[in-house]
Amino acid sequence: MKVTVVGAGNVGATVANVLALKKFASEVVLLDIKEGVSEGKAMDMMQTAHMLNFDTKITGVTNDYAATAGSKVIVVTSGIPRKPGMSREDLIGTNAKIVKSVVDQALKYSPEAIFVIISNPMDAMTYLTIKDTKLPRERIIGQGGMLDSSRFRYYLAEALKAAGIPATPTDVDGMVIGGHSDKTMVPLASIATYKGIPVKQLLSQEALDDAIAKTKVGGATLTKLLGTSAWYAPGAAAAALVEAIAVDAKKLIPCCVYLDGEYGEKDLCIGVPVVLGAKGIEKIVDLKLEGAEKDNFAESVTAARHTNSLLADALK
Ligand code: 2OP
Repeated sequence: MKVTVVGAGNVGATVANVLALKKFASEVVLLDIKEGVSEGKAMDMMQTAHMLNFDTKITGVTNDYAATAGSKVIVVTSGIPRKPGMSREDLIGTNAKIVKSVVDQALKYSPEAIFVIISNPMDAMTYLTIKDTKLPRERIIGQGGMLDSSRFRYYLAEALKAAGIPATPTDVDGMVIGGHSDKTMVPLASIATYKGIPVKQLLSQEALDDAIAKTKVGGATLTKLLGTSAWYAPGAAAAALVEAIAVDAKKLIPCCVYLDGEYGEKDLCIGVPVVLGAKGIEKIVDLKLEGAEKDNFAESVTAARHTNSLLADALK
């Protein structure tokens, strides 16, 4: 199976690298507009093939969409990352035009492809992609929930450790829905568990609130530390979505998808749990949200609609 990753920056290169390590793809094409960067990164990764024991062929190309022809999945990481102090939404003016151009060009050569959108502001970029391409919603997936849920598990494990319980992120189950946004993502503490035990039974409300708050600004925290946005977890998250599609895993993963009545919402892309398989989104799971989590999701919907309303101007 052939996968294209557009954008050979930190996130795109990490996606390609993790895909190769996962060994299910026959070919990964890494495309960038900067002359030589994707060629160099692809060659560097191929020189790890012997040591890391993978047979995936990674090819780097400069803006040559013909080389991406026949891809099953196209991962879009193009655009600028945020700098410390910026929100993801601040990037819309630059990234909307870039994402539209990338999607249009990639679709010409891979008309059957499933798109995984990472570029920020991701929920609006996913919405833009669906409006622009008019593809069935099953084939347009935004990556945010997988990453945010992984950060939630990390912060819950840290909180459990501080409470004297020797947890690791893999011991914890936790899901984040809503927009991929510092203020409005919705970590679902009500259904988070440690080895099947509700974390609410193990953590104080204060510790739980702290883990939620840290999860929400997880990306901003790393941006401040790194001077640019994170890449290891975002790259691994996107590769996990590609894998679920490639191997028809039918896994429940929170992803940004176009809602058409689910959660009482229409004409909006936002994070909710979906079943991912060979066809892309195979099912949207309509959770019954309650209390503060329901209110927070509603706020997230309002914020996502506001960002979408900026798209027309951003594309001018
Ligand atoms: C993040 O949260 C890049 O949006 C991505 O790190």
